[in-house]
Amino acid sequence: MNTESSGRDPAQDRPCRLLHVVGARPNYMKVAPIMAAVDAEVARGGPVAFEQLLVHTGQHYDRALSELFFEELGLPRPDVNLGVGSGSHARQTARIMEAFEPVLESYQPDLVIVVGDVNSTLACALDARKLGIPVAHVEAGLRSGDMSMPEEINRRATDAIVDLLFTTDRIADACLRREGIDPAAIHRVGNVMIDSLLHHREKALSRPTLGLHELLDGAGQPIPYAVVTLHRPGNVDVAETLHAIGSALAKLGESMPVIFPVHPRARARISEFGLDGLFSRENGIRLIEPAGYLDFMNLVAHARLVLTDSGGIQEETTILGVPCLTLRDNTERPITLEQGTNRLVGNRTEAIVAGIEAVLSDRAPDPCFPELWDGHAGERIVRAIVAWWSQATRAEGVPQAERRASVGVESGA
Ligand code: UD1
Repeated sequence: MNTESSGRDPAQDRPCRLLHVVGARPNYMKVAPIMAAVDAEVARGGPVAFEQLLVHTGQHYDRALSELFFEELGLPRPDVNLGVGSGSHARQTARIMEAFEPVLESYQPDLVIVVGDVNSTLACALDARKLGIPVAHVEAGLRSGDMSMPEEINRRATDAIVDLLFTTDRIADACLRREGIDPAAIHRVGNVMIDSLLHHREKALSRPTLGLHELLDGAGQPIPYAVVTLHRPGNVDVAETLHAIGSALAKLGESMPVIFPVHPRARARISEFGLDGLFSRENGIRLIEPAGYLDFMNLVAHARLVLTDSGGIQEETTILGVPCLTLRDNTERPITLEQGTNRLVGNRTEAIVAGIEAVLSDRAPDPCFPELWDGHAGERIVRAIVAWWSQATRAEGVPQAERRASVGVESGA
């Protein structure tokens, strides 16, 4: 390309090579809007030429947890799949690190972008930093304060070593500042998961709701129902806790159908602990296969309430105006308690039932849109990377450690 006609500074005209990492189900809807925003920037002939590569670590590998999402979100097929699969935390993290290092050495990215808080996030950030490659973390600064959650360890460790920290809200910014992170490296950009939700909302809402007969009355009219998701080790790996949650769901099942798309880990534990009778149709609980993105958003959008231990669903229900009971004692997403539809109820039967009663006696809440959760977070991330890259190339020759993301980029649209 003719650099003069493109308006680029010839000294900075080498393409900026981005490497995106995905590993597990909640990562795909975060990466899709960023890659789309980079493509849009390239198409518009912006000041920086980008190349991008997508690496799937293979942490999730079932079609229902992986491939289907690529199709629905319009994500390009991964350029590289590390195929690491399941294992203990140590083994999985170590396998990802071992397999990712040669990819970094051969592709030589200028920036590695990791999202969320799964084992793939931390493993790839560590690899890149140890090779002196700058790293950006999307969804930085979320803190539950609960170090028994593997995700909390992943979040804290990742944020401590990366160069660019993209946050969803002011509470996350404050957490990072308290931990001594350089404020110039923190960029509040909004929520990329909500970019995906708003982008696919119409398509998701106009689908038929999974064709479940439980969701219709005798005259074929839709009836109120609840949606459940569970996968945290703290909830599903302890028999008494899983039993306590199942008992609350069975109580709810007396008044409305409870639809439970089951994560493989939860399904295995239900059988292992002899709880198939509790989580059963007789108790109003319908176990279904993990749903794809569009079907799941449809199911949630039309639900009377959602009970979950997921992180992202607390945010999605906030935007959709659906009450959410979070079956945990803490959340790394407190903004959804302050401004959204989320309530923390823990995992004891009585507390969950009390939460259900409170929700059902209230009118359905209105959707809430925390600041910058407006569908444009991906574009803000690209603008911040353009500013960072322009400064980094100007400082070429300066050791990477010294140019730790000191570019101030305004948040706001
Ligand atoms: C992982 C993330 C969690 C995220 C969740 C979303 C970590 C520490 N945890 O948890 O933050 O919310 O993904 O689903 O990274 N399995 C399959 N098929 C698969 C993948 C897993 O059957 O495609 C089964 C295996 O038995 C595996 C178990 O699920 O051992 C757990 O999978 P793993 O990736 O270790 O963690 P998740 O519980 O899915």
